[in-house]
Amino acid sequence: MKLPYAEPFRIKMVEEIRQSTRGEREIWLKEAKFNLFNLKSSQVFIDLLTDSGTGAMSDTQWGAIMTGDESYAGSRSFEELHNTVQSITGYKYLLPTHQGRAAENVLFSVLVKDGDIVPGNSHFDTTKGHIEIRKAHAIDCTIDEAFDINDLHPFKGNINLEKLEEVYKKYPKEQIPFCLVTITCNSSGGQPVSLENMKAVKELSDRYGIPVYFDSARFAENAYFIKKREAGQENRTIKEIAKEMFSYGEGMTMSSKKDGLVNIGGFIALNDEELYKKASNFTIIFEGFITYGGMAGRDMAALAVGLNEATEFAYLESRISQVEYLGNKLIEYGIPIQKPIGGHAVFIDSLNFLPNVSRSEYPAQTLGLEIYKEAGIRTVEIGTLLADRDPETRENRYPKLELVRLAIPRRTYTNNHMDYIAAAVKNVYERRNEITKGYQITWEPEILRHFSVHLEEADGIVELQPK
Ligand code: F0G
Repeated sequence: MKLPYAEPFRIKMVEEIRQSTRGEREIWLKEAKFNLFNLKSSQVFIDLLTDSGTGAMSDTQWGAIMTGDESYAGSRSFEELHNTVQSITGYKYLLPTHQGRAAENVLFSVLVKDGDIVPGNSHFDTTKGHIEIRKAHAIDCTIDEAFDINDLHPFKGNINLEKLEEVYKKYPKEQIPFCLVTITCNSSGGQPVSLENMKAVKELSDRYGIPVYFDSARFAENAYFIKKREAGQENRTIKEIAKEMFSYGEGMTMSSKKDGLVNIGGFIALNDEELYKKASNFTIIFEGFITYGGMAGRDMAALAVGLNEATEFAYLESRISQVEYLGNKLIEYGIPIQKPIGGHAVFIDSLNFLPNVSRSEYPAQTLGLEIYKEAGIRTVEIGTLLADRDPETRENRYPKLELVRLAIPRRTYTNNHMDYIAAAVKNVYERRNEITKGYQITWEPEILRHFSVHLEEADGIVELQPK
């Protein structure tokens, strides 16, 4: 008999999670203003809100925590992290930050100004926020296939070179500080970018004198997909592929909470000394001295180990095959999900799932709330709430897809949890025709509204404008 797949780890420590009743959950949802971010973790049985900072560290990482060096300047743990980042990315300079968006804040403080244009592949929301808060604009140049959930293109994070060149032709070089390639592309469904595409983006951008940077939160998962799907890459190690990926850019921002396998942290890695010096000033103002940038020495030590673990094939295989396991179960139950299945999450197409809920009543949010009511599973909306309003017209921006993301924390849940999740979603799917009403906004902040928006059950009255 062929031996089945088994995870390359065993579990050394467990954390209790508790079931609740449907009645309890209905009360908690009302108290949370129908925003899943407002729930307490004790009100959640399986938490799929995010894969960011929610994973389990290895015994080796916990060991490194004990030996971290807390020196304010020149810490040994910084040095370990610097050496690791250099060996994985090839970039010379490292600036730690407290998380990914802080890296964006520091780097964009140097590079992005009022009126600038930043093309890329479906920028993540904090990234877009950091561009728009500087009165600049993000232009999405992702390939069209990414927006058809049934298209099986193996690299749906790819940039369409014609769309990118159009941007390069339309705006003067001085107005385009860089092109940003997000690997994997979270906003289009955890979809990878191919090496071939990265290389082509680099060549095109070089011709127009525009630098390329990577938003690298899930770079190791991207490298795994390249190994599995791109011709000629199957015999290379993840580390070799990652090195080549980064060779097609001038630098990167990183949220270490994903493929750094730690609970908090981020960094910028760069080759250009002048840029590094300028960014160092902003690091000191916003984050802390340049050899810790908002991170404890022990956290940098754990991150150095985590980056090495995350770029091992055996780890990535267990990680991504668990996400696939859940995705395939949902496909088996007839549930419309984005295909191919992404690296860190399964995305449910709520427009297909809940055809009776109008787009102005936030069908993806509605579905997320139904899944929580059903089984205590917390997901996140990747739809109109997240897409926010147009900064000028203040109208809702309706994205091409209205998704519910089931993000899987790394090394945290078992496949029994995956079976439970799939059964819960199936139960909601079976009563989908009874779900006809969505939600309306009662309060929202100026930007990044999905984190704190207040909602109520829709009554057909036009939604309120932000105060
Ligand atoms: N870039 C990408 C592609 C991300 O997915 C995230 C965070 C960030 C940047 C920002 O990093 O959270 O460390 O400040 N994504 C999380 C998520 C929040 O749930 O997808 P951060």
